[in-house]
Amino acid sequence: MHDDPVTEFEPEETLSALPQQGERDVEGTLRPRRLDEFVGQPRVREQLQLVLESARRRGVPPDHVLLSGPPGLGKTSLAMIIAAELDAAIRITSGPALERAGDLAAMLSNLVEGDVLFIDEIHRIARPAEEMLYLAMEDFRVDVVVGKGPGATSIPLEIAPFTLVGATTRSGALTGPLRDRFGFTGHMEFYSAEELELVVRRSATILDITLDTDGAAEIAGRSRGTPRIANRLLRRVRDYAEVRADGTVDRDVARAALKVYDVDELGLDRLDRAVLSALVKSFNGGPVGVATLAVAVGEETTTVEEVCEPYLVRAGMLARTPRGRVATALAWEHLGLTPPAATPFDVGPTLFD
Ligand SMILES: Nc1ncnc2c1ncn2[C@@H]1O[C@H](COP(=O)(O)OP(=O)(O)OP(=O)(O)O)[C@@H](O)[C@H]1O
Ligand SMILES: [Mg+2]
Repeated sequence: MHDDPVTEFEPEETLSALPQQGERDVEGTLRPRRLDEFVGQPRVREQLQLVLESARRRGVPPDHVLLSGPPGLGKTSLAMIIAAELDAAIRITSGPALERAGDLAAMLSNLVEGDVLFIDEIHRIARPAEEMLYLAMEDFRVDVVVGKGPGATSIPLEIAPFTLVGATTRSGALTGPLRDRFGFTGHMEFYSAEELELVVRRSATILDITLDTDGAAEIAGRSRGTPRIANRLLRRVRDYAEVRADGTVDRDVARAALKVYDVDELGLDRLDRAVLSALVKSFNGGPVGVATLAVAVGEETTTVEEVCEPYLVRAGMLARTPRGRVATALAWEHLGLTPPAATPFDVGPTLFD
């Protein structure tokens, strides 16, 4: 059902925002079930509440909803919550699974009035299926083409009014016509440390982990604004607490555990630090090309570009410039070094302001 992005990266990436091998089950247990259980995203939550409540009052399925944002922020959870709040059934599929228009037609014709159809990674949907979706979203109708060549006929097929919920990590990759057919788009943002603290405490309760306030804060601060990472770090810290301590997670236990897993105070791992360190020490802060930087740390360019850089940029430590990558003053300081007098870059507000 889900074209698992796990395969794109090494397994056991403690700080990857993508789900790791075998993590789906525990994620299911930790998913919030109702809107008021869903931590953070106050804007999206309020907007969605209005969309759902008004549809409920009018007794019709709500407009189609698009959820966009980076991995691990709760798009799938929200899609399920939408169905739960509407008391509706949810059918789940994904863009890559809808290779042929026929796959989608089958899915659509099986819908019952009021159903929620969730298409994950909707930006990866194949063109013919996408075109079928236009009509389905607009008129609750599909045209099924029977036969080939000049003898082909198209048979119109009514489908039950439904609500499409699409999720995407790359809303920019969506075509205009598809994007325009959503009545509401929720833009998911990274979570604050306070919000992640709530996420971690909620998960600890569900997993029956004893966690004090300081321990929760310690984990939240290193989770890169991402609930999926926060939940994963919580489980790793729990392992440590059970094996090397009395099972309770407090600040000291969390710190000691995260040291073992090589996660530093800002949530940087070994590779992130290697990149920063090469940039600062070998290239005097840059600018240097990303390919050269990747060679310096012995990694693939794409890994540095797609796994390390987004977070380093967001954290205000690395800037991408036309001439190459540049370390900011914050990067020097994070490595315990004094930045050169003229720091090349002001990257504006960061995650940690
Ligand atoms: N607001 C939240 N409150 C509590 N837990 C959350 C929240 N958002 C996400 N989570 C937890 O984070 C994990 C990942 O969430 P989810 O699968 O919904 O993310 P996603 O945005 O769909 O990610 P992807 O883009 O990789 O599909 C889930 O286990 C869920 O329990
Ligand atoms: Mg998802």
